[in-house]
Amino acid sequence: MGARQQPRTSGAPRQDARRGPERGAPSQAPGARSQPDANANANKGTLRRQAEQWPAAKKLAYLRDRSVGDCRRCRLAETRRNLVFGVGNPDADMMFVGEAPGAEEDRRGEPFVGAAGQRLDAWLHELGLQRSEVYIANVLKCRPPGNRDPHPVEIQRCSPFLHAQIRAIQPRVLVALGRFAGCLLLDRQLKMYQMRGSVHRYREPKTGTEFPLVVTYHPSYVLRRDAENMRQARGGQRGGRGGGRGSGPQPDQRGPIKSEGAKVLADLQRAVSLFRAPPRGPSRG
Ligand code: URA
Repeated sequence: MGARQQPRTSGAPRQDARRGPERGAPSQAPGARSQPDANANANKGTLRRQAEQWPAAKKLAYLRDRSVGDCRRCRLAETRRNLVFGVGNPDADMMFVGEAPGAEEDRRGEPFVGAAGQRLDAWLHELGLQRSEVYIANVLKCRPPGNRDPHPVEIQRCSPFLHAQIRAIQPRVLVALGRFAGCLLLDRQLKMYQMRGSVHRYREPKTGTEFPLVVTYHPSYVLRRDAENMRQARGGQRGGRGGGRGSGPQPDQRGPIKSEGAKVLADLQRAVSLFRAPPRGPSRG
């Protein structure tokens, strides 16, 4: 992979909200702080400044072990077997964002290791990429029971960890797999057909740094469509509503039908072209 460029930063960093005094805390003159409080805040500020200089691997390790830890911010903590933080190269050019761990991911504590992961690995292989070269994470770090859709409150509580992962890795391109990841990273509620087919910009909420973003189908959706197409080819009916992980059929289909898998590969090739120089043509003269 080529030399990394700095991502574009736009807008002023958002100011952290100042917390007011705890209820029951001794009242103080406005602006006054007890010495231990002042020392603790100074230490936090120093740590934050030092952490900005850390390599991505150290930032991710701190985030996983100290910030996420044994997270109890939502009820998924009660049913998960393992928290699934993320995996891959901390200095990756390409970062994938899925929806949430499934049963196999929950069992092994690693994203995309079940059937959807095998499809993702096959796409990476087609692109000439190793799984260890990229970084893979999810919107939710814990499995929703029965693989149900994430609830808005779960996304709201968990997504700061994903934003922090992106801040640490600074990928040259982000790929959202499925509608939930696409909508979160675009901060808008859109349909899949509105998000596919162009390069967007993800704006990291804390710093305003922007990263190119490609949105494509979720591998679970592609697997389901493949199964439906097989059934149809054998003479059965195409059933079910498109959607769920990945989301729905495009209303703009004309001309030769392209499989969803082929569309994903085209989307991923577009993403790769954003950081990989095109192969040189035959030299002239
Ligand atoms: N589906 C996802 O969205 N993420 C995983 O890690 C596995 C399946």
